[in-house]
Amino acid sequence: MDEQIARVLDSVIVPGAERSLLQLGLVRDVERADGQVHIVLGDAALADESQQAVAESVRVAVAAVTGEDAFVEFTSMTTEEANDVRHTVAIMSGKGGVGKSLVTGLLAVALGRAGYSVGILDADLTGPSIPKMFGVEGRAYGSSSGILPLVSSSGKPVMSMNLLLESNDQPVIWRGPLIDKALRQFGKDVLWGKLDYLLIDLPPGTADAVLTVMQAFPIDGVVVVFTPQDLVEMIVRKAINMAVMMQKRVLGVVENMSYLYVPEIDKRLELFGPSRGDEMAKIAGAPLLGRIPVDPTLAALCDRGRIEDYKSDIVTTLGENFLKTLDGPAR
Ligand SMILES: Nc1ncnc2c1ncn2[C@@H]1O[C@H](COP(=O)(O)OP(=O)(O)O)[C@@H](O)[C@H]1O
Ligand SMILES: [Mg+2]
Repeated sequence: MDEQIARVLDSVIVPGAERSLLQLGLVRDVERADGQVHIVLGDAALADESQQAVAESVRVAVAAVTGEDAFVEFTSMTTEEANDVRHTVAIMSGKGGVGKSLVTGLLAVALGRAGYSVGILDADLTGPSIPKMFGVEGRAYGSSSGILPLVSSSGKPVMSMNLLLESNDQPVIWRGPLIDKALRQFGKDVLWGKLDYLLIDLPPGTADAVLTVMQAFPIDGVVVVFTPQDLVEMIVRKAINMAVMMQKRVLGVVENMSYLYVPEIDKRLELFGPSRGDEMAKIAGAPLLGRIPVDPTLAALCDRGRIEDYKSDIVTTLGENFLKTLDGPAR
């Protein structure tokens, strides 16, 4: 593609998606000849009004940069055609409440800080933890051809089944087959565009919904989250067995609520017993990617939708260890 036009198309932000046409993978064709630029864009997830607004922005931007007239045309495109996700990783836990969503969030923050583009799909219907942690609110928009994810304050696309519901506090009492259908549909219909990593926060446990998501997405690997509590081991084993059964690579394990650091006495208190990290790593046949402490600052940031503001070596280490298991694509 023409360098100058590519830069223009990378500067035109799609309303509602807060990412550029290039980032969203919507540029189909560009021809430049005789002082005229002909641009063909895909219409995935763009309602008519958005298409008109985008076309106008492109014409204005092209004229400003090149002084040439742009002819902008939309052609039909599915989200699947537009999406170009390098790695899809699922975050799994044997049971709820161990911090699966929190670890998903921290991993996204870590990869983002390392310079990768990261999206998060919250496939856990038990509550909107991911949107809440990232301060993402409101309804997702789209068209008959797809859904636009919402974006976090640092620009990460976030999509949650919970964002499609009427209100956050509406309980989800869907029956199995409906959930199954919704999860499959959901997987296809979101416009992620170009991403280095798509992280999926799976439902807890080893239920049908987990199987559905594992089948519906091209998952490169699974990260298993656990806490050092006694009974968890059997549950962790189950989760790992399930991943193996589904022929998904276990990339690593993360121990959450591993300890509480008390600065006054400079000590780590192992609230839930001694670390089981090495043991779990052995069971999984994969590395221990991190030991996350119980941290009231972190909990408070999550409650305020500011997980992206959490500064800690824990995050850096988690990202570095993860990147050793699944190579980051060239930036
Ligand atoms: N390491 C931690 N430090 C402080 N709070 C935590 C930690 N891990 C989890 N929490 C809190 O515990 C609750 C449950 O965590 P969450 O990630 O939603 O669990 P899950 O997704 O496994 O159900 C959340 O309110 C979260 O903020
Ligand atoms: Mg959760």
